Amino acid sequence: MSLILNPTASPALSPIAAMDAAHSVHPHTNLRRHLEQGPSIITRGDGIYVEDEAGQRYLEGAAGLWCASLGFGNARLGAVAAKVMTEIGYYHNFRSASTPAAAELSAKLASFAPPGMDKVLLQCSGSEANDTALKLVWYHWAGQGQPQRRKIISRLGAYHGTGAVTACLTAKANFHTGFGLPFDGFLYTGMPYHYRHAHPGEDEQAFSSRLAAELEAMIEREGPETIAAFWAEPVMGSGGAVVPPAGYFDKIQAVLRKYDILLVADEVICGFGRTGEMWGSETYGMTPDLICSAKSLSAAMVPISAVLIGERVFNGMMAQTDRLGSFAHGYTYGGHPMACAVAHEVLTIYEEMDLIGHVKSVEPLFLAGLAGLSDREYVGDASGVGLIGAVEIVTDRATKAMADAALMARIDAATRARGLIVRLVGNRVALSPPQIISAAEVQEMFERLGLALDEVFGAVR
Ligand SMILES: Cc1ncc(COP(=O)(O)O)c(C=O)c1O
Repeated sequence: MSLILNPTASPALSPIAAMDAAHSVHPHTNLRRHLEQGPSIITRGDGIYVEDEAGQRYLEGAAGLWCASLGFGNARLGAVAAKVMTEIGYYHNFRSASTPAAAELSAKLASFAPPGMDKVLLQCSGSEANDTALKLVWYHWAGQGQPQRRKIISRLGAYHGTGAVTACLTAKANFHTGFGLPFDGFLYTGMPYHYRHAHPGEDEQAFSSRLAAELEAMIEREGPETIAAFWAEPVMGSGGAVVPPAGYFDKIQAVLRKYDILLVADEVICGFGRTGEMWGSETYGMTPDLICSAKSLSAAMVPISAVLIGERVFNGMMAQTDRLGSFAHGYTYGGHPMACAVAHEVLTIYEEMDLIGHVKSVEPLFLAGLAGLSDREYVGDASGVGLIGAVEIVTDRATKAMADAALMARIDAATRARGLIVRLVGNRVALSPPQIISAAEVQEMFERLGLALDEVFGAVR
């Protein structure tokens, strides 16, 4: 076997990086550049910090992919996983089979859920949760004698996963182009991003009213009897950590109620305190029929997700199985006992640490940190809620001209050089640190970000 794993890779790569470059295909990555430049290898983590193979430590201001709520490395969760792995390792949940871990997690998650949502369908990823929720929407309407209700409305800029169907809920061009997506029947309404999409002089309430009116016009145009559901994240994460304008969900929900359209809240990022309440739906007064949850559900330590099902849809599902015999849906690893036991322990930790109390205690500092950056000459918008937010980088505040990819790459490099990992979304620098972040660490995160931005802006000037 040749020791030269990838002849095109940079000779500076470590053996492990060269191995990765040669064989590991990476999502959301330029594949040719990866072959040539290789990966950044993260080897360990503790608290809100991770370390790369060269020993450089980073404050993980993005919690990985908005998910490592308890930070990195956790012996307590490791012990739980090892115990289940030793005692049973695997069992499924098809045809009424279950495990103590799956039963206990379902019950505990139901106790965390908003009122009236006490049914839990366990899956393995955020994309699966959204895909499943979509099938439940269709299943429900078919059972109600309205099988023509097939169309789904999501918002421009939305991210709900990358499966063939969830990529259609996702409304970002790069997830469609090249894949021949979206399929028919997926509609996209306006992005609730006031800074960029409000008309001149339009305040947040007026902007929300216009978006609701546009939604209503779309529903009327398409035929209300053909619309199955409206899909929304409370705060749009991969859309750029975009906080909805005042009044938005009240006005949108009024339209949905008028036409009897189901509301699905994608809480894959927002669930478990991210927005300062247990659910983003609570923060914004949403009353969804279904909730998709993942990420912080297990502190991202194991792959698991869940759809929380409200009474209306569950009754529809039961009526369907009365007619059809069984609920013909499920995954081999759905309700995996190791994942369930770890997630159950994570929820127990949330109770012990008073997750919501903690997020509320650091939220003012987090928001002050964002506000503190807002007077930089290159910062347009700076907004957030709970422990999620972003600053938008512009090259001209008056025209709101967006920073280009080259400038954003410099910001990425400067933050990393300062030992900080952030999430770049277009020209937005998003932050969503682990929910365990302390007050001192929030300050440290903003100090590092401020220094990195000043360095880049100083050089540009
Ligand atoms: C809001 C939202 N929904 C769905 C997903 C998809 O989750 P997964 O990557 O686990 O499939 C993500 C992933 O970032 C997300 O942010």
